[in-house]
Amino acid sequence: MDSLALHCLSALLLLIIATSAAASDPTNQFCDARIGYGDSGCGVSGASSSKILIKGGTVVNAHHQEIADVYVEDGIIVAVRPNIKVGDDITVLDATGKFVMPGGIDPHTHLEMEFMGIDQTIDDFFSGQAAALAGGTTMHIDFVIPVGGSLTAGFEAYEKKAKKSAMDYGFHVAITKWDDTVSKEMEIMVNEKGINSFKFFMAYKGILMVNDELLLEGFKKCKSLGALAMVHAENGDAVFEGQKRMIELGITGPEGHALSRPAVLEGEATARAIRLAAFVNTPLYVVHVMSIDAMEEIAKARKSGQKVIGEPVVSGLVLDDSGLWDTDFVTAAKYVMSPPIRAAGHDKALQAALSRGILQLVGTDHCAFNSTQKSLGIDDFRKIPNGVNGIEERMHLVWDTMVESGQISVSDYVRITSTECARIFNIYPRKGAILAGSDADIIILNPNSSFEISANTHHSRTDTNIYEGRRGKGKVEVTIAGGRIVWVNNELTVTPGSGKYVKMPPFSYLFEGIDKTDAIYLSSLRAPAKRYRSTE
Ligand code: URP
Ligand code: ZN
Ligand code: ZN
Repeated sequence: MDSLALHCLSALLLLIIATSAAASDPTNQFCDARIGYGDSGCGVSGASSSKILIKGGTVVNAHHQEIADVYVEDGIIVAVRPNIKVGDDITVLDATGKFVMPGGIDPHTHLEMEFMGIDQTIDDFFSGQAAALAGGTTMHIDFVIPVGGSLTAGFEAYEKKAKKSAMDYGFHVAITKWDDTVSKEMEIMVNEKGINSFKFFMAYKGILMVNDELLLEGFKKCKSLGALAMVHAENGDAVFEGQKRMIELGITGPEGHALSRPAVLEGEATARAIRLAAFVNTPLYVVHVMSIDAMEEIAKARKSGQKVIGEPVVSGLVLDDSGLWDTDFVTAAKYVMSPPIRAAGHDKALQAALSRGILQLVGTDHCAFNSTQKSLGIDDFRKIPNGVNGIEERMHLVWDTMVESGQISVSDYVRITSTECARIFNIYPRKGAILAGSDADIIILNPNSSFEISANTHHSRTDTNIYEGRRGKGKVEVTIAGGRIVWVNNELTVTPGSGKYVKMPPFSYLFEGIDKTDAIYLSSLRAPAKRYRSTE
């Protein structure tokens, strides 16, 4: 054994010892997902090192892959090349035969969100992020919900919630009402707070829903600020009508949720949002694309040259609606989310659209509730809080469903789970790349290993899992977040407060050329008729 190999072995042993010591010390271990899980005394890092060398893996970026070493110092990738030689005092990880890739970025989460009369979703910024890290996601973008319509109050509330973060995060901000104050606050969000996207809910009538007038005002403002307009696309008025219809028919269980909001309502709202964005000439991002109907509207718009981004979420890609008909209420209720998980066939069509570039990146819409919270709707599906888990499962399920099936390449995998999100939200190549100078958010995935999902072993606080029992190939064996090894040997070592807020600048690549198409539009307008007042 040469001296480098010996060094690798001893460093690995040290790492394992440090990790198991952390696991056996109750004040220092990753706290159990359901007990005393919070922001104190939980997960003090023992396994991190400021210098890490990842040896001999296949380093994958969105446009290139090569066998190389990756050297990390103080949270930053310093070098990516074959045969990097290093001195002592460095943690060495052997990645031979494995893929070294940028940590996942989840563009769509709801941690610690007050929603549908429920105090908050079950995962906060610590437990949700711990789950994310165990699944290979190292950054997420959550949605700030305004407080009483105020973006500032909402932002401040989320700043507080996120103090316990164990990984990097950013924010989108929802717009739920319109007046001059909101319009001014949008400017403050973009120019001072690091926000470059705003979300408009076209559903949830009476709670978050906005009308077309507000959409138009909001889209215009987004465009002027270089911020991306995002929509939850379902026709909320028609959903309200559909819900009444189901109740009148005596359908009160979870299946009523799916029946009350069919895919046509998602298609209609997606088409409407796309046309209004085209009218304003601003880019549009459609969140949680769940149906063929919505996907086809996006495909059509993109084909015509419109800048529309489509985000499927893991639940829509890999599940069908059969669970909603389960005879056990808790089992059925766990699948309730909006737009609903669709009948078999939509899932495969969304996968195909993702592999062909019609849809661009995968989120989770992680919005977890436990069975007690879900049981609020035991007599009426309208009261079941909408939302499912996924932040921990996304990287594994996308690998297994898309790469193992041969639908996409490993580089495509990096693009749809990380790089594209970084580009859209204008933080590439700081995030979404294994390049010298990028943040050291890295995963090592073993394609020959396998995973199994269960609520008994997951790290989310929720007591159910919509992917219960699912097995597949490809396992994230190591997660490095901000230069710290946080997941190795199936052990998590996470530190509350170690995650950083990532400011996202406006005017991403999606805004390139908007001024030119505006000018073309103006010059294309037929000249107004010259009219003369009659002298009679
Ligand atoms: O059911 C869902 N999707 N819950 C989260 C809120 C939203 O619509 O994104
Ligand atoms: Zn939504
Ligand atoms: Zn959502």
